[in-house]
Amino acid sequence: MKGIILAAGSGTRLYPASLPISKILLPVYDKPMIYYPITTLMLAGIKDILIITNPYDIENFKRVLGDGSKLGVKFSYEIQNEPKGIAESFIIGEKFIGKESVALILGDNIFHGFGFSTMLKMVGMKNKGATIFGYRVKDPERFGVVEFDDKGQAISIEEKPKNPKSDFAVTGLYFYDNKVVEYAKNLKPSDRGELEITDINKIYLKENKLKVEILGRGFAWLDTGTTESLLQASNFVSAMEINTGMKISCIEEVAYRMGYISKQDLSDLAKNFKNGYGEYLQRIVIKN
Ligand code: G1P
Repeated sequence: MKGIILAAGSGTRLYPASLPISKILLPVYDKPMIYYPITTLMLAGIKDILIITNPYDIENFKRVLGDGSKLGVKFSYEIQNEPKGIAESFIIGEKFIGKESVALILGDNIFHGFGFSTMLKMVGMKNKGATIFGYRVKDPERFGVVEFDDKGQAISIEEKPKNPKSDFAVTGLYFYDNKVVEYAKNLKPSDRGELEITDINKIYLKENKLKVEILGRGFAWLDTGTTESLLQASNFVSAMEINTGMKISCIEEVAYRMGYISKQDLSDLAKNFKNGYGEYLQRIVIKN
């Protein structure tokens, strides 16, 4: 399975904070925002990741992440010139995807919760149909909204409905079989001029091939769209990390725990950081 991170937005809602650099490279507490979606894909067992950026930020992403070899993964890069929608990722990434299934995650989506890596591992092994994730929110009209029947089966999906049929938002993490590329190529732009991911999900739903996993209470799906929510996300990560002594979405740690790099590799990476982050990595080398 291949993975795509859509990191092309300009983050205008965060201006002037995101004027100098892509929002997706801004810090969420102690690491760049993109570390969070990268680890989500890595935990699903995905090692081949395409990062789609806007034309201005591609060099910054390359500088920060390189080709991924230090983490035992492969990063490649493409540009989305204009914000033409999430589903355009599959057209931009057509060659990269080839004949494989593909997971897509939005660069500003942060997930954290018990059991998530087990769930990701299972979904990452599927190569038929589609899997998306529903999460209860208080403002569903801001999102794609999924409605369920009384057996818990998804029956409708709507993009930013004025009168939402449920409180379940569709999060920005999607797993598809290879048909998604053809589906994306045949989409028509919506009223806001975008190729909508919700229209892709509607096709899978119609074909009875859409699985919606619910992320329950106690699970965190964090928004980073506004200065307030970005600060809240940082506060959440710091509270969790300080209380548990464990980092959330530490790419080097995940690479080691997934078996992508050796203990020696991790120790070498730790030496690049003469601070608490490096000490944390060294502690993992010693303790595990
Ligand atoms: C997009 C999708 C929406 C989904 C949301 C998750 O919204 O269109 O269905 O619920 O991401 O973050 P947008 O960022 O385009 O407003």
